[in-house]
Amino acid sequence: MTNSKVDGRPRLSGDVYYPSENVIAQANIRDYEEQVRRAQDDLEGFWGERADELEWYRKWDKVLDDSDKPFYKWFVGARTNIVHNALDRHVKTWRKNKLALIWEGENGDLRSFSYHALNREVCRFANVLRSLGVSKGDRVTIYMGRIPEIWIAMLACAKIGAVHSVVYGGFSVDALQGRIEDSQSRVLITADGGWMNGKIVELKRTVDEALKRCPSVEHVVVVQRTGHGVSMEPERDHWYHNLMNLPIANGKSETEVMDAEDPLYILYTSGTTGRPKAVVHTHGGYMVGIYTTLRWVFDLKEEDRWWCAADPGWVTGHSYIVYGPLLNGATSFMYEGAPTYPYPNRWWQMIEKYGITILYTAPTAIRGLMRFGEAWPNRHDLSSLRLLGTVGEPINPEAWKWYYRVIGKERCPIMDTWWQTETGTFMITPLPVVPLKPGSGALPFPGVEADVVDEAGNPVAPNEEGYLILKRPWPAMLRTIYRDPDRYVQQYWSKYPGYYLTGDSAKRDEDGYFWIIGRVDDVIKVSGYRLGTAEIESALVSHPAVAEAAAIGLPHEVKGTAIHAFTILRAGFTGSPELVEELRDHVSKHMGPIAKPEAVTFVDKLPKTRSGKIMRRVLKARALGLPEGDVSTLEE
Ligand code: WTA
Repeated sequence: MTNSKVDGRPRLSGDVYYPSENVIAQANIRDYEEQVRRAQDDLEGFWGERADELEWYRKWDKVLDDSDKPFYKWFVGARTNIVHNALDRHVKTWRKNKLALIWEGENGDLRSFSYHALNREVCRFANVLRSLGVSKGDRVTIYMGRIPEIWIAMLACAKIGAVHSVVYGGFSVDALQGRIEDSQSRVLITADGGWMNGKIVELKRTVDEALKRCPSVEHVVVVQRTGHGVSMEPERDHWYHNLMNLPIANGKSETEVMDAEDPLYILYTSGTTGRPKAVVHTHGGYMVGIYTTLRWVFDLKEEDRWWCAADPGWVTGHSYIVYGPLLNGATSFMYEGAPTYPYPNRWWQMIEKYGITILYTAPTAIRGLMRFGEAWPNRHDLSSLRLLGTVGEPINPEAWKWYYRVIGKERCPIMDTWWQTETGTFMITPLPVVPLKPGSGALPFPGVEADVVDEAGNPVAPNEEGYLILKRPWPAMLRTIYRDPDRYVQQYWSKYPGYYLTGDSAKRDEDGYFWIIGRVDDVIKVSGYRLGTAEIESALVSHPAVAEAAAIGLPHEVKGTAIHAFTILRAGFTGSPELVEELRDHVSKHMGPIAKPEAVTFVDKLPKTRSGKIMRRVLKARALGLPEGDVSTLEE
């Protein structure tokens, strides 16, 4: 990268990093502007060509059907299965001998899988699931840490046409229970525990608690990871390794033929109000979207070693740990534990050890590791890296520059990818050939039309803040909210009919670069994890001392945003530092450690609208000492 103008390119305003000749020369996609024009003029032709790079049992009759907006359909009439392109297709070629997954446990355990080996495990587990009565369309909940079996479980579900619902292993009883219940899963796949920060995460124990209130679950499959002794309920609970050793696991395992629009998975995420809702993604369009975006944005090559350091329990893991790399026939690395265990050089050590070429992580991780100083990464040879990425929240320019200089040694462009659980794929992102501005996600991916508008839906002037919207459909878009199509229409498509509402505010500068500011709804991004105020508040009021609660996000140096809770106590309870601790622990126990509030403040009143809705915006402004804005709807 250079900081000067590259011939033939217009000079951009602000702090700009232009791609080096070397980066341009090796990029998969060099004609970015032309691809943008191509997609703009012929969206269906553009995506049809991308889809043609993959295999289909039957090709589509039409690329996009928009006759029933906003229920868009992609690759109508086509038949496929994402597993056919992720595994079956590769094991017919030399790639069967290529590594699909290299894994390192926090405790030093090592495992790796060739495409052949991964496919064998997936086939065997698919047979196991079938023998448990799972079939096409059934939902299966997966609740695990970062171990290879989470790949196997997800892929086995997809292979037999079951719909997986992965619940992040850092969530706790209430969060897990609500998600199992809503999905009506009959089968749950988990592990006895996982290693994190040198301690065991009690996965199975949490499952046992949650299942007391989930009568739908008939079978629990338990992977032995920690071997620390967990209780197994006769009939209901089965050890994974026992099932995999049954004769039924062996032999052929057919990949189910799916309609392109058949659901691949549901994934719960928090939205504007109420309980988390499940976003639905499909086999066809989602597959084409993640295959293409990963290849184009991260310039994936046959010889790369790709490391997406997210968790498979979130969309980043679904799209870019499991499915995206496999669709591209790539080699992925996955690490189970904490970045700082046992020392803050763990990540850098593994990059050196495995020769990682592309690292994709979150700003919070970068800020967290930055705190330990440069000496830790500098001790290691990071010269294998050629590209870096970030996702999950806006990256502050200071962290961007540290990442660029200390980790990428000023050679590796940083792909700041903006997207959401709902979008399935990167939406606003640079490509390696696009000049970068630290803190900006740059430009829309070809075929994506993004805009920043005011309350009335009019585009705002450059550098003015407004609502970020998307104006055209894209193949990996969510199709609906599971069991709640009205909410799909209401939440995403009703504020500006015909346009998708992202829930983010943003600015667009004079060069058309997008700058994401943050959520404008009741979503809080803690360390890049997406949490809803409603779930945190309901965890708080489940404590006997709490009558009412409001949760807001306030800036935090490492986490980006941290949760601050305001509570009204029930009569007979008085606030004390002990009660603060008790309430923080209570939320952590019910929701998961990531939801633990930074602070709990006891108040007599909460600002509310006349209709009784808590005005979190006002609470936030007060906490930050900012103007309270329009308070005309405030109760008093
Ligand atoms: C935020 C994660 C700024 C944004 C893939 C979005 C970002 C929400 C970025 C979705 C980025 C994600 N820059 N903000 N590069 N990427 N966000 O569903 O607020 O967990 O709406 O998906 O994360 O979070 P989700």
